[in-house]
Parts: sequence; structure tokens; C-alpha cells
Amino acid sequence: MTGVNHKFELAARPVGLPKRSDWKYSEEPVRDLRDGEILLKIIYISLDPAMRGWLNETKSYVPPVAIGEVMRAGALGRVVETRNPAFATGEYVTGILGVQENAIADGKNLIKIDHKIASLPVYLGGLGMTGMTAYFGLLEIGQPKAGDTVVISAAAGATGMIAGQIAKIKGCRAIGIAGGAQKCEFVVKELGFDAAIDYKAEDVRKALQQHCPKGIDVYFDNVGGEILEAALSQLARGARVVVCGAISQYNNTTPIKGPSNYLSLLINRASMKGFLVFDYASRHGEAAREMAGWYAAGKLKTREDIAEGLENFPEVFLKLFKGENTGKLMLKISEA
Ligand SMILES: NC(=O)c1ccc[n+]([C@@H]2O[C@H](COP(=O)([O-])OP(=O)(O)OC[C@H]3O[C@@H](n4cnc5c(N)ncnc54)[C@H](OP(=O)(O)O)[C@@H]3O)[C@@H](O)[C@H]2O)c1
Repeated sequence: MTGVNHKFELAARPVGLPKRSDWKYSEEPVRDLRDGEILLKIIYISLDPAMRGWLNETKSYVPPVAIGEVMRAGALGRVVETRNPAFATGEYVTGILGVQENAIADGKNLIKIDHKIASLPVYLGGLGMTGMTAYFGLLEIGQPKAGDTVVISAAAGATGMIAGQIAKIKGCRAIGIAGGAQKCEFVVKELGFDAAIDYKAEDVRKALQQHCPKGIDVYFDNVGGEILEAALSQLARGARVVVCGAISQYNNTTPIKGPSNYLSLLINRASMKGFLVFDYASRHGEAAREMAGWYAAGKLKTREDIAEGLENFPEVFLKLFKGENTGKLMLKISEA
């Protein structure tokens, strides 16, 4: 194979929101494959809030991206050359492939995409990693029962939009929290949530009292910060708080402050538990089949927010933190 690979490497550890100067856009020749390897042409790059955490030099569930390393990212690509008998040219796969045009992989930790029921981008979102996050976070950690009141923050985002719809499928009341009237309308009218709270325009504590008069049974937290604190103030007895993420805190330049009212957990005999979608990797197939069934039956909707052009990565990534995406944010960098 001859060709050039364009890529984004980490140039400096960001302080606060990452700046363009924190990245280096560079190119290199695509090297020849060794036995067992495949060459993937990347079509869609997944943009995820977790990528911000991977830039910090602190202990986490994966090592930080090193300075000079290609930025780590989930992506969907097509096999264009193979020296691995398990992969044929033309097959589509997802995996951690990086912010670059081409990736050489050994075939491990890749998921083959059989895009019969949905278009390719859906397999990076609702039927991909963020869909799995919603599925396992809500069902395994949240343990929703029919009739429960489930509150979801970042409800118009990739994970939240799926979590709320699964709550509805399970017979719960789903209340979303999102930024702006348009997102709230999307959550209620298009996704079928029972109500949505615009945290940019409303007093979230008061709105939760109004929408959850008997308290919150499951709070699926994507944002942390003040919204977490407001949700803790309205828990029902025995509530489950699912710590999925805390995007409001990821660009902090000062240490994260925990909720001052955490004793609400004691008063309400509630629990608060974190999880990582990767811990459920062995069960992704089972979840993907069930989710695909819901999708095919029209019970589960997805939405993808697709920007274009590898060179726009630094700015498009920031949309997550500015609330400028609705649904799964990704970057299209080549044709399928
Ligand atoms: N535990 C896991 O394994 C796992 C896996 C995947 C994702 N996650 C977590 O799940 C959460 C959602 O991720 P996603 O990929 O689905 O992203 P997303 O929800 O599609 O996008 C992020 C959204 O967060 C909201 N947001 C940003 N800054 C905020 C702030 N300061 N306060 C309140 N809301 C804010 C914005 O929506 P608004 O316009 O509504 O503000 C934005 O659109 C993140 O915390 C992520 O880290 C966890």
C-alpha cells in the first residue's frame, strides 16, 4: 500500500477547553502490513466527552494519551487491505482507531458491522458504544422497575437520548434535562419522554419537584455538578443514582467539588454507583441484538450529528462541551 496518513497528535496537555495549539496535524506514509494486520480506511470518527479525560496526566481507567501520540478515539472504518484471514476487504468495523485517516490494526478488539438494519453512523451511536452505555448503565446500575420515575441529564445527547427511550420501553416515566427549548422539544416530541427540563432557563430543583412529586427513583447522571446536586435533593426512598459521567466538570481548572447534599443518599437509603461500558464488553452482543430489535420495531430512535473534515477535529470536538450537538456527535472524514 502506498499513501499518506493525516492525523492529529496530542501536542500539549490542555488547561481547560482544548485549544487548536494543543494538537499537531501531521502526515506520514502508510507503511506495509505485517502478517496478521489489516489496514482500515476510517470513515467516521466518534467524538466522546471521555476523550477530554484521556488528555489529563492523572490516574484513570486507561493511561493518558501521550504527548506525540495519535489522539485516541473510537471510529468506524472499512478494511482496504488485509493480511489477517479473519477480515476481508470491504468489511466495516468499529474500534479504537484514532483521529486519523488510516489505521493499521491487529484485528483484536474490533467489532464487525453488519449494517443491515441501520446506516453506518448508527453503529457508532445508538447501536454502538453510547447505546451500550445507556443500556447497561440504566438496566444494570439503575435497575428500573415499571412505574419508576427516571430522570436523565444531557437527555438530548448520544447516551441520554437512548437511556430515556429504554426507560420508556421498560414502562417508566422518563424526565429529561437538557439545555435549550429545542432540545427539550426534541426529547419530548420526537423521543417520547414524558417531560423535559431546560436547565438553562428553569430552576432545576423546582422543576424536579414539579415533575417528580413522589421523588426520583433512578437518576442517570451524565453531567455532575449543580444538576447532580439538584437531582440528589429530590430522590425517592431507595433511589439509584447512576454515575455515567460528569461532563460539566471535565474542563475544570480547579478540583471537582462533590455534591454538598450527598447525605440525601443516607436519608433516602439510596445508592450511587459508577460504571464503565467496557466492563460489559462480553455482553455487548446480547445488548446489541436487543437494541437492534427495538430499533427495527421503531421503538428506539437514534440521531447522529455529523460534522465533516478531519482538519476540523479540534473545533468540532468542543461542540460537546458547548452543548452544540444533538444526538451522537461524529466526524465524517471519507466516503463509505
Ligand atoms: N461510563 C461510561 O462508560 C460512559 C460511556 C460513554 C459516555 N459516558 C458519559 O456520558 C455522558 C454523555 O456522553 P455522550 O457521549 O452521550 O455526549 P452527549 O450527551 O452527546 O454530549 C454532551 C452533552 O452534554 C451536555 N453538557 C455539556 N456541558 C454541560 C454542562 N456544563 N452542564 C450540563 N450539560 C452539559 C450538552 O448538552 P446540553 O445542551 O443539554 O447542555 C452536550 O450536548 C458524558 O458524561 C460521558 O463522559 C460514560
